[in-house]
Amino acid sequence: MSLGAEKRVLSGMRPTGSLHLGHYHGVLKNWVQLQHEFECFFFVADWHALTTSYEETSIIPTAAFDIVVDWLSVGVNPGEATIFIQSRVPEHAELHLLLSMITPISWLERVPSYKDQQEKLREKDLSTYGFLGYPLLQAADILIYRAGSVPVGEDQVAHIELSREVARRFNFLYGREPGFEEKAEAAAHKMGKRNAKLYFEIRKRYQEEGDPEALQRGRAFLEAQQNISIGDRERLFGYLEGGGKVILPEPRALLTPASKMPGLDGEKMSKSYNNTIGLREAPDSVRTKLRTMPTDPARVRRNDPGDPEKCPVWQLHQIYSGVDVKQWVQEGCRTAGIGCLECKQPVIDAVLKEQEPFRERSQEFLADPDSVRAIIDEGCEKARDVARDTLEDVRQAMGLQYR
Ligand code: TRP
Ligand code: SF4
Repeated sequence: MSLGAEKRVLSGMRPTGSLHLGHYHGVLKNWVQLQHEFECFFFVADWHALTTSYEETSIIPTAAFDIVVDWLSVGVNPGEATIFIQSRVPEHAELHLLLSMITPISWLERVPSYKDQQEKLREKDLSTYGFLGYPLLQAADILIYRAGSVPVGEDQVAHIELSREVARRFNFLYGREPGFEEKAEAAAHKMGKRNAKLYFEIRKRYQEEGDPEALQRGRAFLEAQQNISIGDRERLFGYLEGGGKVILPEPRALLTPASKMPGLDGEKMSKSYNNTIGLREAPDSVRTKLRTMPTDPARVRRNDPGDPEKCPVWQLHQIYSGVDVKQWVQEGCRTAGIGCLECKQPVIDAVLKEQEPFRERSQEFLADPDSVRAIIDEGCEKARDVARDTLEDVRQAMGLQYR
């Protein structure tokens, strides 16, 4: 078992259509960064797509392939991150089922997205078992990798919270392995004499005086230990808190700041607003979209002065332009010194430049789809190895070991 699972990062996306620059600035740039710092698992949540698109499944495989090409194109690197498809790691489903046995229905019913989405997607019948279980399947996705951090947007925080509650309940119910105390004490001694002594002191302070600072300190202390196995670390966490072994560690949400990427109309870039620029959209189409995007309505004629604050192009300058260009816009717009097309040109250039490597890489991958399949195959295998390990521990903890 590898060390440092709490440093493991996991995130997923549903394959619901091609990605745009909003995804890049909101999520993917962050993934690319994280892969250098952590052991990352990124996956296509195709089962989650089924919860709302169960009537129209034929697009899912293509969408899954395309989304992986999008990830690879922006620089998610299969040498650094494990890329895989949820349904090809069926262990997620087994863990989901096992967790369903201990998850009260009320926990799922009170997840805010449950009723919200049902109301938003009125035209679909979402009174299904699978839809109710959406966040629990997500919990299984996370817990099966014992991921410490889950980069998600604000809308997913409640799902991570549910994952934490389910993990806690699981550990409470099944974390008492035989000989737990002895094993925990032995694990403490494996850290060396001084560390063990410190650990016992901190534990005593927490358990006898209920000092929450001691708990914090104890956790930080254990996280910083380099040379203990995951199993031992989890025992020591559990022993510190007075519970049993932590079989499924509680994940944290790593909040991705809301994307500030504006769309072509100045609203947030989103497929449902029809204001997007595709990640690897053809240059001509990008040019046309930007040239025809609206500007300050006060600038009817070239000689009418405008106000950048009332113009969606200005918002794009905020993302793409440096101080000098921004100043040029502010002045030129307010004095009618520049025309709108002129003003848009630096944005057009910057967007095209940003997309250039995306387009190049995607062309390479699309010319060799087998290479993409090989990346996915390898990722699925790697993910399965980890998932199998966790399930092994889960089955054992639950007393479902028949061999
Ligand atoms: N529900 C997530 C979304 O819609 C996708 C997802 C599924 C996910 N399983 C996950 C995200 C596990 C993070 C971790 O965006
Ligand atoms: Fe918008 Fe630029 Fe035209 Fe001003 S000059 S209205 S900022 S596009």
